[in-house]
Amino acid sequence: MGEAATNPLDPVDRRDPRGLRAHAPLLDAWLSHGDRSPHPFTIPGHKQRTDLVGEIVRDDVPLYGGLDDVKLTADVLRRAEARAARLWGADVCHFSVGGSTHGNQTLALAVGRPGDRVIVQRTLHRSMLLGLVLAGLEPVWVAPALDDRWGMPRGVDPEALAVALRSAPDAKAVFVTDPSYVGTVGRLRELADVAHAHGIPLVVDAAWAAHFGWHPDLPGHALALGADALVTSAHKTLPAWSQAAIVLARVERIDAARLDAAFEATHTTSPAGAILASTDAAVALLERDGTALLGRLIDLVADARQALAGVEGLVVLDGPDVDPVKLVALLAGTGADGVAVERGLIEAGLPVEMADRDTIVALATLADDTSSIARLVTTLTALVERHRGAPRPTVPAASWSVVPVRGCSPRDAFFAPRERVRLAAAVGRVSAELVAPYPPGVPVLAPGEVVTEQVVAALESARAAGVRIAYAADPGLATLDLVADTQAISR
Ligand SMILES: Cc1ncc(COP(=O)(O)O)c(C=O)c1O
Repeated sequence: MGEAATNPLDPVDRRDPRGLRAHAPLLDAWLSHGDRSPHPFTIPGHKQRTDLVGEIVRDDVPLYGGLDDVKLTADVLRRAEARAARLWGADVCHFSVGGSTHGNQTLALAVGRPGDRVIVQRTLHRSMLLGLVLAGLEPVWVAPALDDRWGMPRGVDPEALAVALRSAPDAKAVFVTDPSYVGTVGRLRELADVAHAHGIPLVVDAAWAAHFGWHPDLPGHALALGADALVTSAHKTLPAWSQAAIVLARVERIDAARLDAAFEATHTTSPAGAILASTDAAVALLERDGTALLGRLIDLVADARQALAGVEGLVVLDGPDVDPVKLVALLAGTGADGVAVERGLIEAGLPVEMADRDTIVALATLADDTSSIARLVTTLTALVERHRGAPRPTVPAASWSVVPVRGCSPRDAFFAPRERVRLAAAVGRVSAELVAPYPPGVPVLAPGEVVTEQVVAALESARAAGVRIAYAADPGLATLDLVADTQAISR
């Protein structure tokens, strides 16, 4: 394979002329693959020929029979994962090509048995909810506190977790999402203490926090704060290929063999080498230059926040419990419609992660610089002025404020015979499907939950405000798929 000859666990040598590849065995293998011209009798079927479907397949080198041989004798994946495990202080690390979606499903499958109860933050991503369905876990919901100023979720309060654990002392794990989609950061150390006092693991969906712990001005990463496992997307805040994710765990409260089995069970058997190699490269970059690059980004975002906070009526999320690199602007005080502002941003070539009527979420990463951030600030400011109107009160989005009413287990609802019913007639019945405004992909209605007036009103107003309603069988929301007969299912 390649020439990452140094021990992968040695610290990065900044002067090594081979650059990142010297410390990133998967990256090295990917780069070296181009030096050879094998004609493989293996998958992928394009065999690196670009004259059939074209350039689209050029960078597609598989792990098996590409970055390594089919028997994995060069051990490049294991060496890269061992390196990342050391950097995060984990016992186990897996690189995934299935995003944090796959990581969340892995962790759900790793902590209990079908029927076991787990405490879960209700503002979870749909991938974790479907993880619960896969694993047959019974969620006991705990709601994060809402910040009154912003109408945005904060983290789960440790006191609320303690109450939830008193109501479910048999719970096998605690699942939280931290930071939230809007960058608010919870009290993970205290949550870990509460979970551990009950002898159970704290599992953190840290999809948006691959950079945490890599600069003194950033929050520590979840494992450093006492969590037992985290999943993070390397393609979100780090410069890795789409779908790149990392699962990291300590094994005191999580069974390593079960975790490995859960990971493999839900991962592809043909992982794309470029995704894995880019994860490896992103980790090596963090180790070599993370502090400097993140320091620069933190300063850029601080300046952007200050400039945007000067726009009359515009509120920018900021403070000690907000991710310093997240840019979230609240528009209610300007009267501007976020969906119209987003359209302007797209026209200007500056699409953002998320926009609804009241919120704009822009993702700034290591790939930004002074000029890209300045363009965003100037354009956003001009668009807010163009669409300025009468200020509105701040209303929390449905994703953060919905109060779920349990009808039956998510798993039972998912597999139950369904009936399609007009939305208005669905009130009082149990949903068979998951419905979430996207982004953030946080379910407003989950399988097994009762369709309430609040849910219907929230979904209708999100749809009317131009937000995409994802995952529903009828995306127009004229109808909903309900459990046909709740009496007929066991729980
Ligand atoms: C909190 C959270 N968890 C998990 C995911 C899924 O991540 P991925 O797209 O990497 O599968 C997302 C996606 O946005 C997310 O916001």
